Amino acid sequence: MNKKILGLATAALLSLSMSLQAAPVTIKFSHVVAENTPKGQMANEFKRLVEANEKLKDKVVVEVYPNSQLFGDNKVLEAMLLGDVQIAAPSLSKFKKYTKQLQLFDLPFLFKDMAAAEKFQQGPEGQELLNAMKKKGLVGLGYLHNGMKQLSASNPLRVPADAAKQKFRIMSSDVLVEQFEAVKAVPVKKPFSEVFTLLQTKAIDGQENTWSNIYSKKFFEVQPYITESNHGLLDYMVVTSEEFWSGLDKDVQAELKTAMDKAIALGNKVAAEKAESDKKTIAESGRSEIIELSDEDRQKWVDIMKPVWKKFEKEVGAENIAAAQKAGE
Ligand code: SIN
Repeated sequence: MNKKILGLATAALLSLSMSLQAAPVTIKFSHVVAENTPKGQMANEFKRLVEANEKLKDKVVVEVYPNSQLFGDNKVLEAMLLGDVQIAAPSLSKFKKYTKQLQLFDLPFLFKDMAAAEKFQQGPEGQELLNAMKKKGLVGLGYLHNGMKQLSASNPLRVPADAAKQKFRIMSSDVLVEQFEAVKAVPVKKPFSEVFTLLQTKAIDGQENTWSNIYSKKFFEVQPYITESNHGLLDYMVVTSEEFWSGLDKDVQAELKTAMDKAIALGNKVAAEKAESDKKTIAESGRSEIIELSDEDRQKWVDIMKPVWKKFEKEVGAENIAAAQKAGE
């Protein structure tokens, strides 16, 4: 082979090897909340950790889309199964189409507090539920906290009868339908992105959410009363598609999982802080009156809503209900 042919062959091999070098994997992380929330901060922290990781350099790019910019509640999981989104963290109330088991987390007054939710989620039953949608192509990477839900409304809600005939926006959960029907209210399933306008235009009378969502989406500016009911849990499952996750190199997958665990730990810390600080900011704003329930009045809400559990016992598993209760002891 003369020198010229050798040179051409070397150049051709070089260009082939460059074109064979894998392009970086892009992870689109889509969510519906603001960036200053537990989930918003968790997603940004995940991106930061991936970018700072030398082992993932040139291999993975993370793009975060907050505030329903890319997909809203109803579309994100379908988009994930089509490969248009790689990570999302919908609230546990939004998986009904894929599994009935996660409805457990919506049962009113099931979790005594966030410590009980954490204990259950990290225990055997909670960990098992991360795989509840595997057959449908979705895998849970972990749980993320937001916090306990409160009731906001146009009228003061002290006893269950105050909620009768009022329209409440709910997430797409049949448990939440039953919860509000138990107090003779009218539940309306709507995406998160529409809640502020629905409240502002008085198309609905109230909604249930955590302090950080009520604050970051300004619901408190259009809801004169917030009852501190702590009646339910609003947490998330961080999910990815089985196809995407199992297609990653094992070392990349392990680094991503470590980054996700660290980001979740930060998100959980933010969630605990915001439950206090956002409530305080709302109280100081004077826009909403915060109603604290007496033990006697709170018990009235428990007594009327708790029978909802029985209706979902088969779907969510009596053993899971028992484990969730035990976590609060
Ligand atoms: C979220 O926190 O992701 C949204 C909750 C809701 O839809 O109310």
